[in-house]
Amino acid sequence: MSWHRQHLLDIESLTADEILTVLDTARAFKAVGERAIKKVPALRGKTVVNLFVEPSTRTRISFELAQQRLSADIVNFTAEASSLKKGETLKDTAKNLEALNADFIVIRHRAAGAPHFLSRVLNTHVINAGDGAHEHPTQALLDAFTIRERKGEIAGLNVTILGDILFSRVARSNIWALTKLGAKVTLCGPATLVPRTFEAMGCRVTYDVEAALREADIIHLLRIQHERQRKTMFPSIGEYTTLFGLNRARFARARPDALIMHPGPINRGVEIDNELADCGRSLILEQVTNGLAVRMAVMFLINGGKGPAEVESH
Ligand code: CP
Repeated sequence: MSWHRQHLLDIESLTADEILTVLDTARAFKAVGERAIKKVPALRGKTVVNLFVEPSTRTRISFELAQQRLSADIVNFTAEASSLKKGETLKDTAKNLEALNADFIVIRHRAAGAPHFLSRVLNTHVINAGDGAHEHPTQALLDAFTIRERKGEIAGLNVTILGDILFSRVARSNIWALTKLGAKVTLCGPATLVPRTFEAMGCRVTYDVEAALREADIIHLLRIQHERQRKTMFPSIGEYTTLFGLNRARFARARPDALIMHPGPINRGVEIDNELADCGRSLILEQVTNGLAVRMAVMFLINGGKGPAEVESH
């Protein structure tokens, strides 16, 4: 077992052993989820605040379900109804949550580095649920879990990440996780959204979508992050779909065992053809299901849990 961290702030600072500890622990929690009684007392008496200052469906709800399954007391912070609207700072907001005896703060924020900042000014555990275009560590962990479950091994796999890489926290966290676990990662998309600077993270960059798809074991699609783009990065959505969208003709030229992933929310008919999103080789909803076990594992380990053997003994 290799996990001694108080927080989960990013994937960049994790070792491969730490990532594998989360994945092994998540596998044990997935088995717990198949029992008649799905709850364990691991976080009984602990208070968790879900501090989501940016919209979320999958991450927020699966964190909340994970906390319920771990028997925590849960508070969901609603930014729109909070004193953030009256000008209170993030630091003061978080300090007040700590004064109310929060043990964990799960934060999603538009500012890159917000979780790191809170981890420096608070004594609570901090979990990054997505910070700007920086990182989304639990998304990368659930993606790695899903790939490992379907393909057995991550080392040696070809993973193509296709879409808006520049503004994607999911891309950054996945690149860190997959390269640490030995996958070969290829990035593809419009040149304005896939700068060659990403090669420094150990990836291949190509603007040839057919080449990027041909050898891929996993095709990981990303949506265009309009909310983070400050200028037009390509001529039109229609042109993006024509040049880079995953359609049936393109997918037919991929390997017969290539699988499709997407963190959601998906834009049907833009980055992915409507029918492909629901086809038997799409893992999109499996990713969501696995997010619950992965987030249980993360919270369990941060709380001092001893890994899969302890989960199995519950
Ligand atoms: N994948 C993801 O982060 O989705 P949400 O924004 O709905 O949480």
